[in-house]
Amino acid sequence: MKRILWLASLVLVLGSLGMAQKFRTFPEIKQSGKILIGTEGAFPPFNFFDDQNNLKGFDIDIGNAIAGQLGLGPEWKAHAWDTMLIALNQGRFDFVIASHTITEERAKAVDFTKPYYCTGNVIVSKPGGPQTPEELKGKVIGAQLGTTFEEFAKQFGPKQLKTYQTNPDAVQDLMLGRIDAWITDQFTAIEAIQSRDLNLQISGLLNREEIGMAVAKGNSLLLAALNQALDEIQANGVYEQISMKWFGKDIRCK
Ligand code: ARG
Repeated sequence: MKRILWLASLVLVLGSLGMAQKFRTFPEIKQSGKILIGTEGAFPPFNFFDDQNNLKGFDIDIGNAIAGQLGLGPEWKAHAWDTMLIALNQGRFDFVIASHTITEERAKAVDFTKPYYCTGNVIVSKPGGPQTPEELKGKVIGAQLGTTFEEFAKQFGPKQLKTYQTNPDAVQDLMLGRIDAWITDQFTAIEAIQSRDLNLQISGLLNREEIGMAVAKGNSLLLAALNQALDEIQANGVYEQISMKWFGKDIRCK
């Protein structure tokens, strides 16, 4: 009997160790004075490395503003896109700001803040190439692996769907004629074309996506703090200033 009890408690302890929270609560973060922020660094103009290898972009400015609003020093960590939410749940960063679309599927694994901007997908192609969903049928389409762009592209019945580790990787294949169209975000499409003066065309918006920051599943105090800080920077003009700097307009959800 004793032995069974001992075994039972061992199972309980081990079980709860396995279930142990792998995140820092907001009071713990406050105490340390620093907040660890995860992003990708390959999604211009939202998050990217400049020539001096510094993280830049709208996501970075918003993340820094939110940290400042919470009275915390930001510490940035760059991480590969496709495993970023797993790393978040492993406690590698306190929150992630990397232009994640809020989806039902992802919300099973992590908790999302209120959206910090709204956007949508577009089709990018060479002049004469596909510009409508109908024209994508039977074509070779490129999209970043593990994104909503990839999911979106599937529904158009492409002949082939080529996936890329980073979003800008697809541009080169588009220019070389290896893909007929690139599905991406409207703002990243504009940036890709303007930064290299490429002769490409962009379709109209095909959908609407709400973009959120993410915390580890169940990190509710941090989630509330981030939502409040977002409200504050949207009310005090800081958000608008950052948005104007990158896009010449306010991209918050309306
Ligand atoms: N919004 C899209 C998604 O959530 C694409 C985001 C890609 N972000 C990045 N850092 N590469 O799937």
